[in-house]
Formats: sequence, structure tokens, C-alpha cells
Amino acid sequence: MAAEQTLILVKPDGVARGLVGEVVSRIERKGYTIEALELRTLERETAEEHYGEHVDKPFFGELVDFITSGPLVAMCVSGDDAIVGMRTIMGATNPIEATPGSIRGDFATVIGENIVHGSDSTESATRELGIFFPDRVPG
Ligand code: RTP
Ligand code: MG
Repeated sequence: MAAEQTLILVKPDGVARGLVGEVVSRIERKGYTIEALELRTLERETAEEHYGEHVDKPFFGELVDFITSGPLVAMCVSGDDAIVGMRTIMGATNPIEATPGSIRGDFATVIGENIVHGSDSTESATRELGIFFPDRVPG
């Protein structure tokens, strides 16, 4: 068990559909803490940095178009093993494989509009929190 911080986004589809409260509620009910929260619309450059690991993928352009298409809600979430724990709450990347009861399993139908983002490792969390909440990154 490790105390961790992770970056969570309610993506533009989640904000447009009025699911911010639902996502925040699930995070709080699980027992994690919201350390910081901000509504913002990403510049293309910021989105490309955030999803930099996918720059060579065929869906990269669509991914950046989508994540910059409207306001999103960014959160720094903390708790015991919060990185993997949040990925479990979110469900599989493709909503048709996401378990019912997970956010993607309950609210999404297509991979390109899957409601939430969560850091996938300690390295990703540190890098991504540095983009969205530089004050939250230790050191
Ligand atoms: P995220 O980074 O948004 O939390 O999603 P993830 O870790 O579950 O999945 P990842 O592999 O990092 O992919 C990032 C986002 O790209 C879109 N995607 N589209 N068309 C496709 O085959 C495809 N594959 C991935 C998804 O919206 C995914 O969340
Ligand atoms: Mg990812």
C-alpha cells in the first residue's frame, strides 16, 4: 500500500453530459480525497503534451481534437494506491469491455468518448500532474 496522487480528468463528453457530480461522487464515496479541481479548456499544445505517449498512434489527431473540444474538469486525487484504484473505478479503456459498475461501463459506449482519464503509473501521474497542477508535485 502506498499513498499516491493521480491526475483524473472528466473529459469534455463527461462535462457536456452533466456527469461531473457523478464522477466526483464516486471518487469521494470510494474514500479518495480531491486535493485540487479545475474546470478548463485545453490548448492544443497542452493536450499534445498530455497525450504525448500516443503521438504516433493513428487516433492521435482525433484524440487531441476531442480533448480540446470543450471544457474538462481536472482533479488531483489522493489516497492509498489511488493510481490503480482509480483505474479500477474508471473501467477498461473500451467501454464495451468495461465492467458494469465502473464509470466507463455505466456511462460510455465508444472508445473515443469514454468520460474519464486517469494516470496509468507513478511516472505518468508525476508527469501529468506537472502539466495540470505543478504545485502538487513533490520536489
Ligand atoms: P486515458 O489515457 O484517457 O485515461 O485512457 P486509457 O489510459 O484507458 O487508454 P490509452 O491507451 O491511454 O488511450 C488514450 C485514449 O485514446 C483513445 N483511444 N482511441 N480508436 C482507438 O483505438 C483508441 N484507442 C485509444 C481513448 O479515448 C483512450 O481513452
Ligand atoms: Mg492512458
